[in-house]
Amino acid sequence: MEAPIGILTSGGDCPGLNAVIRSVVRRAIGEGVPVMGIRHGWDGLRDGDIEPLTRHSVSGILPRGGTILGTSRSNPLCDEETIAKIKGNWKKYEMRGLIVVGGNGSLAAARDMHEKHGLPIVGVPKTIDNDLRGTDYTFGFDTAVAIATDAIDRLHTTAESHDRVMILEVMGRNVGWIAASAGIAGGADVVLVPEHPFRISTIVKLLNARRKARSSFSIIVVSEAARPHPEEDFLSEETKQMLYDERHLGGIGRQLAREIERETEMETRVTILGYVQRGGTPTAFDRILATRFGMRAVELVLEEKWGRMAALRAHEMTDCSLQEATEGVKELDPELYRTAEMLFG
Ligand code: F6P
Repeated sequence: MEAPIGILTSGGDCPGLNAVIRSVVRRAIGEGVPVMGIRHGWDGLRDGDIEPLTRHSVSGILPRGGTILGTSRSNPLCDEETIAKIKGNWKKYEMRGLIVVGGNGSLAAARDMHEKHGLPIVGVPKTIDNDLRGTDYTFGFDTAVAIATDAIDRLHTTAESHDRVMILEVMGRNVGWIAASAGIAGGADVVLVPEHPFRISTIVKLLNARRKARSSFSIIVVSEAARPHPEEDFLSEETKQMLYDERHLGGIGRQLAREIERETEMETRVTILGYVQRGGTPTAFDRILATRFGMRAVELVLEEKWGRMAALRAHEMTDCSLQEATEGVKELDPELYRTAEMLFG
């Protein structure tokens, strides 16, 4: 029998994971190569929680959110014992290569497992944040933007009815891709992103100008990691530690609302969109992208191009090194931010 390909999904879940799994299984089986599904990220490789994936087991999963394999944020390099167990199971199952579907953290771990421990690994870029380098888009991002845009549309009608300022806090970690994209698509009046620390005085001026021009309401989209400019910082050190804790970002929307109400006396409400952005069915764009990534990943394994990641560049399916993909983060495109900014007010 041909040596199988292993696949695991790691890090936060994201719409389109099942589309990748299905694509990998369909493509590999088409080549006569079996696929083994590893459950709950690296934990499954450590514990031997591994099962064959068949055409039957991936049937009907294309539109489903989440991942049929389960996921975890476990680090395979956390200690020597874990590394030894992973290597032991790798030998036992005699797999020809491993496809790791993950975001920044998971693919950095995949890079090190390949470079330092010799595991034959290829990557697939997954994250709603769109912050991986080497690829124009990660799958999951388009769905998150669609969900955030829908939320802005809904907030518009309630904001208008009550003459309120509505703040929508979105995910995205330390980059503003989701906020800027949804802000443009939803017609937000202000978009605040981590790449551009904001001045509360500018926001207040803008809200007052809108009120004067008889716009009865305003919509502000804020990234979970957006920060006030140091010259107009209204947050205490303690609050900042809480809001910008890398393990769990979030809460700037509430602080901003308090400050706006204090400065303008406008009634201000906050919606924190949270995990809704990661749940449910992927958009057609994400299904297609995830499917193309899955196909490319199988090709990389068959060509033994270890340490590479499937990537999309200018609409073309290609690949880049895991090293390039995980060197820092891909910040928000300045042109996209300028577009959002020109529509402020
Ligand atoms: O990286 C994806 C993401 O949803 C971020 O946007 C968010 O900050 C983080 O994951 C939340 O992580 P967790 O699932 O560990 O709470």
